[in-house]
Amino acid sequence: MSSQDIPEENLPAARDTGHGAVKVADEEHPFADPGLPPHEHRVQDIDERAAKRSERTVALLFTLSMLATIGFIASFVAIPVEKIVYIFPLGHVSALNVALGVTLGVALFAIGAGAVHWARTLMSDEELTDERHPIEAPSEVRSKIMDDFRQGAKESQLGRRKLIRTTMFGALTLVPLSGVVLLRELGPLPENKLRHTLWSKGKLLVNMNTDEPLRPSDLITGSLTFAKPEGLEEHDHGFQNEIAKAALMLVRIRPDDIKDKRTMEWGHEGILAYSKICTHVGCPVSLYEQQTHHVLCPCHQSTFDLADGARVIFGPAGHPLPQLRIGVNDEGYLEALGDFDEPVGPAFWERG
Ligand code: FES
Repeated sequence: MSSQDIPEENLPAARDTGHGAVKVADEEHPFADPGLPPHEHRVQDIDERAAKRSERTVALLFTLSMLATIGFIASFVAIPVEKIVYIFPLGHVSALNVALGVTLGVALFAIGAGAVHWARTLMSDEELTDERHPIEAPSEVRSKIMDDFRQGAKESQLGRRKLIRTTMFGALTLVPLSGVVLLRELGPLPENKLRHTLWSKGKLLVNMNTDEPLRPSDLITGSLTFAKPEGLEEHDHGFQNEIAKAALMLVRIRPDDIKDKRTMEWGHEGILAYSKICTHVGCPVSLYEQQTHHVLCPCHQSTFDLADGARVIFGPAGHPLPQLRIGVNDEGYLEALGDFDEPVGPAFWERG
């Protein structure tokens, strides 16, 4: 439809409604904009008692959030990790997980619900329209933004509604504490617990799968075998803690392929023993490339060259895998010649 099709009486000069809307059609704007409907005041705008009720509701929600956060922290401290409860329809679940989930959920929901109720009932609900502008911020615009901000702060009644302000700041201050207490789950510092393992001079290397002490002839060139110290059984108390430190990875490499003297001397006829625990954050490394003698950690792809003292050739690990010095005893079995000479596992800051 062209402006020529619009009857003459529909083309008066009046255009702007003050909100950028066009009341009537003209040549430039052939379609009339009906504009915004008349503003209807909310009950809170005209009845101070209703506004007070809304204020108390918002404060109640923020207070509920604070109580839920305190409940979260109390649950974390008081409920044992191993406590299991039956909850229909979930079945048997960890009491701690349920308590943490419910309290944190309530704390966050109550803040959100309080903010929404505050915005819907007490903050200004005047409809505003604005023209699009180029993306630039001249000083007049910046000062207008500051004026708008001050106006918004005034209209939010943050200064006037002290009860809301106090409880909102309380809720927002307490909620981050939930994250802080979770730091406890990072556990105690390792101190010197990673410096000593069950390996010591004369301990036999036992195959993890067969539970048999290993002889050099059990390991063919190109093979990868996992071993544990003799005397460590799966049903032993503390087995997991000990194997997590002592787990050993044995490879047999052609002696000519071994790149450095120390690596060669700490092995036996090309059999090399390394900690299986990645020096990045402690995953078990295991993906062995026979041709290159590289072993890959599946967690973050740190790659170690086993023919070169398990030097890191790729990935985030900061240290080589510790090597265990091995030899063969009088009966022909592989044995350790001592403990690892450095801490196993993640390269924590106390490591030399
Ligand atoms: S734990 Fe091995 S690369 Fe991260």
